[in-house]
Amino acid sequence: MSQLQFDADTARRIEALYQIQDALRRRELVRKALAAVRGARVLDVGCGPGFYCLELSEIVGSSGSVVGVDSSSAMLELARARCGGRDNVGLLEGEAIALPVESGSFDRAVCVQVLEYVADVDAVLSELHRALRPGGRAVVWDVDWATVSIHSRDTALTERVLRAWDEHLADPSLPRTLGARLRSAGFEHVRVEAHAFAASGGYPETFGAALVPFIATFVAGRQGIGEVEAEARGAEQHELMERGEFYFASTQFCFTATRSA
Ligand SMILES: C[S@@+](CC[C@H](N)C(=O)[O-])C[C@H]1O[C@@H](n2cnc3c(N)ncnc32)[C@H](O)[C@@H]1O
Repeated sequence: MSQLQFDADTARRIEALYQIQDALRRRELVRKALAAVRGARVLDVGCGPGFYCLELSEIVGSSGSVVGVDSSSAMLELARARCGGRDNVGLLEGEAIALPVESGSFDRAVCVQVLEYVADVDAVLSELHRALRPGGRAVVWDVDWATVSIHSRDTALTERVLRAWDEHLADPSLPRTLGARLRSAGFEHVRVEAHAFAASGGYPETFGAALVPFIATFVAGRQGIGEVEAEARGAEQHELMERGEFYFASTQFCFTATRSA
């Protein structure tokens, strides 16, 4: 069965998801790891609704530039609306495995929660390496979905739901191989930092709570889960939120790597 499609509906839902507190915290961590300075040329691969493009364009200023690339026209439409009027932001429709950019033309490259959706990760890493100038830095961020821990009264159903949710992307545990793959692509100084995102109670501003409707919609019809069962599972999670008993945790991984000088 097909993985998540970044069509107009999903793009709008992801745009809303990326305005919650957990998403702001993640962007702050990414910006810090990227350490882009005034005048830098930054590439955002899989830029989605353009949050990073906008924020990074403010950091690099008018002497720098940000180029966002995404394969989804719906995402790019949102990114254009967000970054409209900024002379230092360029938005291009394109594939991460064949970036429409010149070799060696960027000081920084960022790729947040994109590679886990891509079948040929190594091709994208080669492209990131090609796009960076010698000494340039890449930040690659992905989730290991096997780290997800959820409280539910029906643990067997939750297990099936998580297996079905694994189908929403190409590699649910990409961070496990990402370090070695970055080195194989020619990067050096490869480092990883793990960041836990946890929700205890019913806070809508957390990834865990915000993902409940995404998961309920996606898993229906997969792993033998019917629509009624998927809805009931979503309802149970909302009920737990109302009672302050909701719990969700996951670990996300921030890799930094340098193209050798
Ligand atoms: C989960 S969103 C993340 C968006 C953005 N990086 C952020 O964190 O705000 C994943 C994005 O990757 C894009 N994407 C997925 N596969 C891609 C590919 N092969 N080439 C370019 N973009 C891709 C999707 O269209 C989507 O916009």
